[in-house]
Amino acid sequence: MSDKNVPKLRSRAWFEPEDEKMGFIHRSWLRNQGYPDDYFRGRPVIGICNTWSELTPCNAHLREIAEFVKRGVIEAGGFPLEFPVTSMGETNMRPTAMLFRNMGAMDTEECIRAYPMDGVVLLTGCDKTTPATVMGACSVDLPTIVVPGGPMLNGHYRGELIGSGTFVWKLKDKLKNEDFTQEDLTEAEICSARSAGHCMTMGTASSMACMVEALGLSLPGAAAVPAVDSRRKVLAQRSGRRIVEMVREDLVLSKILVREAFENAIIVNAAIGGSTNFIVHLQAIAGRIGVDLELKDFDILGSKIPLLVNLMPSGKFLMEDFFYAGGLPAVIKELNEMLHLDLITANGKTLKENNEKAPCYNREVIAEIKKPFQEAAGIAVLYGNLCKDGAVIKPSAASPALLTHRGPAVVFESIEDYHARIDEAELDIDENSIMVLKGVGPVGYPGMPEVGNLDLPTKVLKKGVKDMVRISDGRMSGTAFGTVVLHVSPESAIGGTLALVETGDMISLDVPNRSLQLEVTEEELSRRKANWQKPAPHYTRGYISLYEQTVQQSHLGADLSFLVDKSGSKVDRDVH
Ligand code: FES
Repeated sequence: MSDKNVPKLRSRAWFEPEDEKMGFIHRSWLRNQGYPDDYFRGRPVIGICNTWSELTPCNAHLREIAEFVKRGVIEAGGFPLEFPVTSMGETNMRPTAMLFRNMGAMDTEECIRAYPMDGVVLLTGCDKTTPATVMGACSVDLPTIVVPGGPMLNGHYRGELIGSGTFVWKLKDKLKNEDFTQEDLTEAEICSARSAGHCMTMGTASSMACMVEALGLSLPGAAAVPAVDSRRKVLAQRSGRRIVEMVREDLVLSKILVREAFENAIIVNAAIGGSTNFIVHLQAIAGRIGVDLELKDFDILGSKIPLLVNLMPSGKFLMEDFFYAGGLPAVIKELNEMLHLDLITANGKTLKENNEKAPCYNREVIAEIKKPFQEAAGIAVLYGNLCKDGAVIKPSAASPALLTHRGPAVVFESIEDYHARIDEAELDIDENSIMVLKGVGPVGYPGMPEVGNLDLPTKVLKKGVKDMVRISDGRMSGTAFGTVVLHVSPESAIGGTLALVETGDMISLDVPNRSLQLEVTEEELSRRKANWQKPAPHYTRGYISLYEQTVQQSHLGADLSFLVDKSGSKVDRDVH
């Protein structure tokens, strides 16, 4: 690109203003960190948006990764400035990290716009930190590259692989049915988290890293490199170099995030057996950048895609194995006939150029397209009187025999009600029952927690039964599995049909025909609706009150309604 085509740097409005008093103010205070004068005279300013936090263990190594990004930025002639944003740590944040995804997105957006940045590097890891920062960046639309923090090393426990999260879902079973002691539990805890990085199953964090790579927002191969592998640092450094070029090329997010890129991401998520959480996050990102994406697109584009990756929770291996086998480039190469390959990606090359020669080193981990691990792996979207705006299920994580099932509902009005009654001796429940959980949608919890994969009742587990149909308006951890219908929309807290289900009602689930029906007459439902009372808001002040009043339903991505779309990077007023 010739110099005259290089876009004017946005940061010059701060550092080289006509009014020297303001220029003095903008430069002088930054100089207290020891930057030489040439840093303020035409170098692209690269914001390194860091979700580092010791309270987000999956992102606790990102301060170190930021230093490698800075190396690359300086090498390429840029001026790196690291800044913190809200970090959503999945395991310790109450009541649920998802409640704060949109707050993190708002924080990211406003920081990028308000400060003198020309380009942005997003350092992400734990589940919500990726969509939150990408959503926020989309609403500003500067050149942006993502550096995922990478997965933890494989967990090993007494000779077997132990996947983060996935093992947790087996705990109740283990504690009740096996000779499993407190000491065993303590040992398993450290075995499943033995290095820096995010969950190393194909859970939500890994799915988000793959989503970013499939969208073209990271360098190729970025998703799978383990957090502690030296190649993760090299990747960070190369991303630092590249973002400076992206600024010079004016390669803004909206040039990469076209509708076809979202279609690619849906296909890739299906092929990797990715998380159901991917749906709400991808839709929210699409809403920010202005791409029209509907819930049914996930089924139309993804449900027939074969499963090519043999990772927990759908399969056997973990992210470290995926990396050694070739990572996402090897999957993209297998999918080439299904993807839009001519799309530009963050490194300036097309998806085809990046992945056409990608090798696969282990066919037990990454299958050839002609010999997949499953024929149809994507997410199915269900409709019916129980979910007029849709509900989702991940058939690859479900029991095939339960994908068509009719049974009586056993209703829990809240997650607390479930915990209080699930193991009561008098609870009339068996393996044919359908467990229905209300009050865990975006408004209902609030924040749509990952509780949809309810543990089975002990008396059913004792029979050796491992799965039952479960239905809720909540989400499920990407590391979980089972015949679990999620994201029922409209949710019960705003008066969706789910709110009207009573214990004993018959429900029929028919995944092959994409149907979820409550077998109750319209007349009876109208009668129940007339008696239904909307729950009182959980909070009357603060962010959560704002969230409850403005959050959209899950089939739209659960963003706050006033955050959808973008405002660009322009700031009309200077500091005064
Ligand atoms: Fe952070 Fe799983 S808890 S990625």
